[in-house]
Amino acid sequence: MYHRLWLIVNTALVVILTVYIWIISPHDSSSVVLAQLLAQIAVIFFIVNVNMYFIFLVIRNTSQRNVKIRLAKFSRALMKWHIKIGVSATILILAHALINLSKVGPLVGYTHVKFVSGYLAILMLSVTLFAGYLRYKKSSGFRRKFHLTSAMILLAAFLIHIFVLLN
Ligand code: HEM
Ligand code: HEM
Repeated sequence: MYHRLWLIVNTALVVILTVYIWIISPHDSSSVVLAQLLAQIAVIFFIVNVNMYFIFLVIRNTSQRNVKIRLAKFSRALMKWHIKIGVSATILILAHALINLSKVGPLVGYTHVKFVSGYLAILMLSVTLFAGYLRYKKSSGFRRKFHLTSAMILLAAFLIHIFVLLN
């Protein structure tokens, strides 16, 4: 039951993002379009990583043994990629930010809400990476909560950033 809702929310998020980026928010400049493309790929990577929470949640709470076993195998495979996905997405976002700082900043100003929300998102991204690193070194109740909370604030921050209109 929950896994269906979870699939629907994920698919809807990706479809809404794609429609928003490519239909509602087009740009003439090809480097800004590249910045959008890099950010869209990064966002999909972030969403994959955030999904770890829901996968672990279902594993903990399901009473169906076969679902538990299947998801445990799936999460183990996904966790092999978790750090690589997070680091790759970060590199894509750095390129996204650099392009926007050089091309869009001079046009709309560096204190535009789109930029301020971008700074906030990249700050939360740094915190999440740091917290992920701590958790990877040695897990504890606090470290688990720290990484999870920062990841959820990061999710909220970049969703706000994406849906702020530039013009
Ligand atoms: C985790 C960090 C970030 C994520 C996930 C992210 C994601 C996105 C996405 C998906 C878009 C396309 C939406 C649209 O076209 O309106 C976008 C647009 C934009 N972002 Fe970011 N961004 C992040 C950080 C930043 C930073 C640090 C800056 C500025 C230094 C920035 C500046 C902009 C600007 C100016 C736009 C509008 C132009 C464009 O689409 O490229 N972003 N961002
Ligand atoms: C920016 C991207 C990242 C996001 C959005 C993210 C998000 C998450 C989420 C939501 C969970 C599940 C938390 C839970 O249910 O307790 C998790 C688990 C974890 N993350 Fe990340 N993470 C990111 C990057 C990283 C990085 C860079 C590292 C390590 C250097 C890392 C290490 C871990 C570890 C060790 C776990 C626990 C896995 C387990 O319990 O088996 N994460 N992450």
